[in-house]
Amino acid sequence: MLRTHTCDQLRPEYEGQSVTLAGWVHRRRDFGNLIFIDLRDRWGLTQIVFDPDVNATAHRSAGELRNEYVVQVQGRVRRRPAGQENPALATGEIELEGHTLKILNKAKTPPFDINKEAMVDEGLRLRYRYLDLRRQRMRRNIMLRHNVVRHIRNFLSDEGFVEIETPILFKTTPEGARDYLVPSRVHPGKFYALPQSPQQLKQLIMVAGYDRYFQIARCFRDEDQRGDRQPEFTQLDMEMSFVDRDDIMALIERLMISVVKNNTDKPILREPFPRLSYAEAMARFGRDNPDIRFGMELVEINALVANSGFKVFSDTVAAGGLIKGLNAKGQGHYSRKQIDELTDFVKDFGAKGLAWLAIDPPPTPPSEGGAKGGVRSSFAKFLSPEETSAIIKQLQGEPGDLLLFVADRPAVTNEALGRLRVELGQRLNLFDPNVLAFCWVIDFPFLVWNEEEKRWDPSHHLFTAPMDDDIPLLDSDPGRARGKQYDLVLNGYEIAGGSIRIHQRDLQEKVFGLIGLDIEEAKRQFGHMVEAFEYGTPPHGGIAPGIDRLVMLLAGEPNIREVIAFPKSQSAADLMAGAPTEVNAQQLRDLHIKLDLE
Ligand code: AMO
Ligand code: AMP
Repeated sequence: MLRTHTCDQLRPEYEGQSVTLAGWVHRRRDFGNLIFIDLRDRWGLTQIVFDPDVNATAHRSAGELRNEYVVQVQGRVRRRPAGQENPALATGEIELEGHTLKILNKAKTPPFDINKEAMVDEGLRLRYRYLDLRRQRMRRNIMLRHNVVRHIRNFLSDEGFVEIETPILFKTTPEGARDYLVPSRVHPGKFYALPQSPQQLKQLIMVAGYDRYFQIARCFRDEDQRGDRQPEFTQLDMEMSFVDRDDIMALIERLMISVVKNNTDKPILREPFPRLSYAEAMARFGRDNPDIRFGMELVEINALVANSGFKVFSDTVAAGGLIKGLNAKGQGHYSRKQIDELTDFVKDFGAKGLAWLAIDPPPTPPSEGGAKGGVRSSFAKFLSPEETSAIIKQLQGEPGDLLLFVADRPAVTNEALGRLRVELGQRLNLFDPNVLAFCWVIDFPFLVWNEEEKRWDPSHHLFTAPMDDDIPLLDSDPGRARGKQYDLVLNGYEIAGGSIRIHQRDLQEKVFGLIGLDIEEAKRQFGHMVEAFEYGTPPHGGIAPGIDRLVMLLAGEPNIREVIAFPKSQSAADLMAGAPTEVNAQQLRDLHIKLDLE
C-alpha cells in the first residue's frame, strides 16, 4: 500500500506516530513560511502542514502543489494548537506534520471547483463526471446507494432469498415502453431486445422452483426522459411462490422500514403504510402516486353545479366530465397575476382554464378596517348565492381561503388539479421535506381501454392476475375488473410496482384474447411462457422497487441522475463518452445493416 491510513482515520490518540497518507490536494493555503494542504481521499480530509524548519525539501515541493495533484505524504501526527481545531471535520483535532512529499501525479485545473458545493451547469458536470464524482455531494449519494443496496442484499439473503442473474440479451418484454434492440451478427436480420425488466425470467425462475428470488437488475426502456426516468435504471427485482398479495406487501414494508432506519435519520410518516384503493387515490389526489405528506385534497362538485348558470360547469357535467376543486387555505390574497400564473400552470396539463373563488374576511366596521365581506370570483356571478355557499361548504372554505376549480374530461381534471395540488403544496411549504410518506395503492383496474387501438390494454402487464371475485367480469364487463396489482408510493413517486401473476394457462389465454393478442401471435412472442406454465407452475407473485428513485428520495435529491454514477442526459446521451455514436461501415456490414437516414 502506498499509505498507512486513510484521510478520515487519524485522531488525537495517534499523536506522535509516523504515518503515510495518499490522496488529492483538496485545498492549499500558502502563508509563505507555513503551507497548509487539505488532503482528500474518498473517506475524508486531513490537514497537512509543511514547515521549512521541519523539512525544507518537503516545504519546497509543497510550494509546487496545485488543487487535485495526487500526492503521497509521510509525516508525524500532532494535535492542532489550542483554538485551531476544526469541529466540522472528523480529523479536525489533529494535523500531519509533513516530512516527505512525493508528487505522484500532476493535474490540470479542473473545469469546476471540486472543493466547493457551488452550482455547476449539469452538462459540464456530466461531461466531466469523473471529476463531479469527486465532489462531496456525489460521494455522499454514491455511498448511500452502496449502503442501501448492501442492506437490501443482506436483508433478503437473511429472509431466504437467492440472487440469480438473468440475461441482458433477451427477447422483447411487455412492460409498455419501447425496446432497445441489439442486432445479431450470427443470425442475419434478427435482434435481441434488452430487458425492460426481468419479468418473464423471474416467473420462469418460479416455475423452476427457486422460490424467493431477487436480483439487483438493470432494466432498459426507450421512453421519454424525465427527472425520475432513465433509459437504463436499476430495480430490486423479486419474485416469491405460494404467496398472496399481503405476504409480498408485508415483506416489502419491513424491508423499506429497515432500509430507512439503517441508512437515514429521516422519520417515516405512518406505519404500517396506509393503503388506498386506486379509486380513492384518484378521487382524493387525482393521481395514482399520491403525495400524502399534506392535505389540500381534491373535492368533486359535479352535483352542486350540474344546473348552474356557469356554462363551463354545467356543460362539463352534461358531457360526462368531472369538476373538482381544492382549497388553498389562507391564500385568498392571491393577485390576479398570481392566479393567471396558476392558470398557465394547469393549462400545461391540458386544462382549459382555472376557475377561482376567493373568500374575503367577514365584514368589519370602518374602525376595524372596513372589510366588505363576500367573495371575489371568476364565476360566482353566474351562480345563485345558494350554489356559491354550497360549493364553499363542500370545500370547507373559510374567510381568507382561495378555492380553485378545473372542469374537463375526468383524466384532464385529475391530472391538472392533481399537479396543481403538488405544486401548491411545495410553494406553500405544506410539508416537512425530511419526512418519508409511504403508501400502497391497490385494487387497480385490471384493464384500461385503448381508444386509439379500440382494444383493452393490461393496466400493469399481461401476466398480472385479475382479482378472483372479478374473473366473471372479464366476460361481462371487463372494464370493471380489478387486478391483483400493487404500487408502493413514496412522497408522490411510484417507487415499486408488482402483482400476483396468472399461473393457469386457460386464464392466461383468456387475457391474451381480451387484449387482442391472438393465440398464434401470443405463442410467437411468449410461447416459452405458455409452454412453461404447463409443467407445474406454482402460484406466484412479485414486485420491483426502483433503486434509483428510492435512493433519490432517501438522499433528498431532486432527480435520479444525482444518485447514478454515470447517468444519461435528458436526451438519453452520455455526455462524457459521447454515446451514442456512429459505427464504421464494416461494423454495419457485419450486422447486415444498411442505414437509411433522410
Ligand atoms: P414497473 O414497470 O412498475 O414494474 O417498474 C417498477 C419500478 O421501476 C422504477 N422505474 C424506473 N426508474 C427509473 N427510470 C425508469 N425509466 C423507470 N421505469 C420504472 C419505478 C417503478 O415503480 N416487472 C414489473 C415488476 C413486477 O411486476 O414485479 C415492473 O418492471 O420505481
Ligand atoms: P371564461 O368564461 O372563458 O372567461 O372563463 C371564466 C373563468 O372560468 C376563468 O377563470 C377561466 O379560467 C375559467 N375556466 C374556463 N374554462 C375552464 C375549465 N374548463 N375549467 C375550469 N375553469 C375554467
